Amino acid sequence: MAEDFTDQVVIVTGAASGIGLEQAKLFLQNHAQVIGIDKNQIPLENENFEPITADVSNEKLFEKITKLIETTYKRVDVVCNTAGKLDDYRDARDTSLDQWNDILQTDLTSQFMMVKSVLPTMIKQHHGVFVNMASIAGMVAGGGGIAYTAAKHAVVGMTKQLDLDFAEHGVRANCIAPGAINTPMNGSDFEGDAKMAQWVAEQTPARRWAEPKEVAELTLFLASQQSDYIHGSVIPIDGGWTAK
Ligand code: NAI
Repeated sequence: MAEDFTDQVVIVTGAASGIGLEQAKLFLQNHAQVIGIDKNQIPLENENFEPITADVSNEKLFEKITKLIETTYKRVDVVCNTAGKLDDYRDARDTSLDQWNDILQTDLTSQFMMVKSVLPTMIKQHHGVFVNMASIAGMVAGGGGIAYTAAKHAVVGMTKQLDLDFAEHGVRANCIAPGAINTPMNGSDFEGDAKMAQWVAEQTPARRWAEPKEVAELTLFLASQQSDYIHGSVIPIDGGWTAK
């Protein structure tokens, strides 16, 4: 059972779909004030919810976030760096430098820019939790192409260093490494006869895909006081995929 997040300010990127949407919903259900960011419109209405339509790869967004936190909310307790996209499983030969830079900017640099924009407030209030979205592609090869796998491995490294550098200031940072989660990101696996989706389930020890709500529930635990001693970790939620 997660704690009540009343009076806590939570930022969720990628809040328009899939895992980010479920995270935003669950924090709202647990009484947090939630700021949701997505390049698409976010299908949520709640008096404790502020939507921001923006691209997380754009540096300008983060000046706005810093200002919003400093002037309106005066605090920020939890950041879920969830927005991300796949690289169509392209290998090195098929990845242009532009494609590489685009994936790294969206999946990695956006998280770094967010960290920089909220960290001073977290340090000042001596409390802050990052739940950064990695992937099984942040632990092993095969969960994406070369750029996605590189970006997600780097998210893991960034998170560990972030935690080491700021734990003494009350800041905690961990990563989630999901396996097969049934979200629009994997929509093509379910197209036609859904052979790909079926293959993925067969290859997963748990023999199924997970729902995004399951990842949201893990997120709430990692954001809560109950996980206060979990630092700089990567928590797989992959039905046993990386344990094989
Ligand atoms: P999704 O496609 O359902 O949701 C991703 C959301 O991020 C979308 O609403 C999209 O508009 C937003 N987004 C993407 N690029 C953006 C940008 N530049 N600026 C603003 N918003 C942007 O995908 P899903 O599955 O919910 O993915 C969420 C995170 O989980 C991603 O970081 C993904 O890499 C990660 N993940 C997902 C897995 C899965 O099986 N679904 C497995 C492992 C990791």
